[in-house]
Amino acid sequence: MHRVCVIPGDGIGPEVMDACLKVLENLTDNLKFVHAEIGVNAYKKYGKYLPEETVQLLQHTDACLFGALTTPSSPDYRSPLLAIRQGLKLYANVRPVRTLLPGRPEIDMVIIRENTEDLYVGLEEYHGSYAVAAKIVTREASERIVNFALDYARKHGRKKIACVHKSNVLRKTDGLFAEIFREKVADEEVETEEVYVDTCALRLVTSPERFDVILTLNLYGDILSDLAAGLVGGLGFAPSANIGESYAMFEPVHGSAPDIAGKDAANPTAMILSAAMMLDYLKMEEEAARIRKAIAAVYASGVKTRDIGGETGTKKFADLIVKEIEKGS
Ligand code: NAI
Ligand code: MG
Repeated sequence: MHRVCVIPGDGIGPEVMDACLKVLENLTDNLKFVHAEIGVNAYKKYGKYLPEETVQLLQHTDACLFGALTTPSSPDYRSPLLAIRQGLKLYANVRPVRTLLPGRPEIDMVIIRENTEDLYVGLEEYHGSYAVAAKIVTREASERIVNFALDYARKHGRKKIACVHKSNVLRKTDGLFAEIFREKVADEEVETEEVYVDTCALRLVTSPERFDVILTLNLYGDILSDLAAGLVGGLGFAPSANIGESYAMFEPVHGSAPDIAGKDAANPTAMILSAAMMLDYLKMEEEAARIRKAIAAVYASGVKTRDIGGETGTKKFADLIVKEIEKGS
């Protein structure tokens, strides 16, 4: 039995999480869910965006499923999500992007993003009339993520890694990242290339099939993964994993989508696919495959969720996946 910490969050977070838990509960008895809170909900209850109770729970579970959080406008807000990623050293952010919808170009890539540093370390300061943000790139974190990407490519039969950076301008920070990439891949079988981030954005739009694994720094990975999600139908289709040495958290790429919250309009595919990634991590590969197969079959049958102009709401979509899983078993 695996213990899973469930953090639905707010906005559409609880809606896509309910859909996801329905699928998981119908799939297996091998998961025990414990619920926790972070963000605005937690602040109302505990006076903290990241309560100690939640940190404790995370430390006593095998993995975490997370929905989405609204970022409040208060200037003292520090993202609990970033704190968890950095605190639990969830150093690799893995974002697969795959075509599910009929009639779209065949895309099958994974974006691997360094998840602990770069401009996301939160070192920003005002200096009179200007403001400064620190971009931190360390040898240690860069080596760790390059090793992760190489290992990932080996395990998943991926053939090519594109290292994406901007070392022509950021010669020292991105330069170090690129240099470590070159050092590490020198004796590897896998095909490699280096692509500047602006060129990468262009190529993602004009010839996305050329990409297999994209390995990149934190900020570029954040931006490019939304772009890539757009190629396969939007944020409703983009799952992710935050992986560390001894813990991992799984979440859709999207945010809390306040524009559609409470309307049964959110597409839970990204959340459910994130849960499938969690099952792989927990060595429940067979169950993960059943989820992916069911999702593929439901889309292949012509079902359209509201985000892509269809009628199927969040709850109905979950029911269809549950039925499909039952059919397949
Ligand atoms: P967003 O990802 O919440 O939404 C962007 C657009 O995509 C919206 O039009 C939304 O309706 C649509 N969308 C997103 N997920 C969808 C789904 N599953 N099904 C159908 N449509 C979907 O990004 P936005 O609007 O920039 O941010 C909203 C809030 O979420 C902000 O407070 C932001 O800071 C936060 N956020 C949180 C993240 C997280 O919790 N990991 C990540 C990104 C943003
Ligand atoms: Mg993002």
